[in-house]
Amino acid sequence: MSALSHPHLLGIKYLQDSDIRLIFETADEFSAVINRPIKKVPSLRDKTIANIFFENSTRTKLSFELAEKRLSADIVNFSASGSSVAKGETLVDTVNNILAMKVDMVVMRHPNPGAAHFLASQVKATIINAGDGAHEHPTQALLDAYSIRQRFGKDFKGLRIAIVGDILHSRVALSNIFCLKKLGAEVMLCGPATLLPRHIETLGVKVNHNLIECLEWCDVANFLRVQHERMDMKYFPSIREYIMQYGLNAQLLRKLSKPITIMHPGPINRGVELTSEVADGHQSIILQQVENGVAIRMAILYLLAGER
Ligand code: CP
Repeated sequence: MSALSHPHLLGIKYLQDSDIRLIFETADEFSAVINRPIKKVPSLRDKTIANIFFENSTRTKLSFELAEKRLSADIVNFSASGSSVAKGETLVDTVNNILAMKVDMVVMRHPNPGAAHFLASQVKATIINAGDGAHEHPTQALLDAYSIRQRFGKDFKGLRIAIVGDILHSRVALSNIFCLKKLGAEVMLCGPATLLPRHIETLGVKVNHNLIECLEWCDVANFLRVQHERMDMKYFPSIREYIMQYGLNAQLLRKLSKPITIMHPGPINRGVELTSEVADGHQSIILQQVENGVAIRMAILYLLAGER
């Protein structure tokens, strides 16, 4: 039985704000654990977890793997390339074969929106969505919000968060919007009109196409990657023009009337969303986001396994 209100983690949409706060409080405990000389606890020593990745990943895959090892779970890793998926095996057959080897939980990244939801309806295991196409990336949103909480305290009310860039192709954007709104923050989206989904304001967010106005408004700006690999047409005239209008450099950051916190889920297109000076500068918390990812994923695995 999950200690959360939902038996799987398919998207932030399905979580209550109390679930999010429980995940954060549990992550606080695990954050202390992974900063000790002995970074392991035996909490999931009776569980076996399969990490199945049908899309490339560095951060999410390694972070889940480390989280599982820190909790003493047994793990198997599966990537589509080199597997029998290439011979035409279906997703459900693939996962049922993995589950037949006595696996309890599945962490899955898949290029198709809704894949994790579909899988949860078809197989008998706890499913964790590690990113499904341009739909949701719930663990990224949770580690992002946890990193903001670490910087600004537990109360999100009145906090102003800007999400800048390629919103249209981003699963991080949607999960962040759901998460931050549930916690009570204000959210503004900024980017070229072509990279903002129509009617996105119905999710209760503000939209502003002017980067400087948006940065003057916010306390935190989360810059998203331009996802060239998901683009089937030209969404802006040239990368140079995108950088001029939506890229952040140190000169612009210094010109703002107050210091703001800079985030990026990674991978970064250096020199496009952020210059290296900004990405590696003192206002950036990009590597804290990555560090927090392990504690957040430990908390999610632990709570979904029914622990409290
Ligand atoms: N932020 C993120 O999901 O990165 P990866 O694609 O490297 O996992």
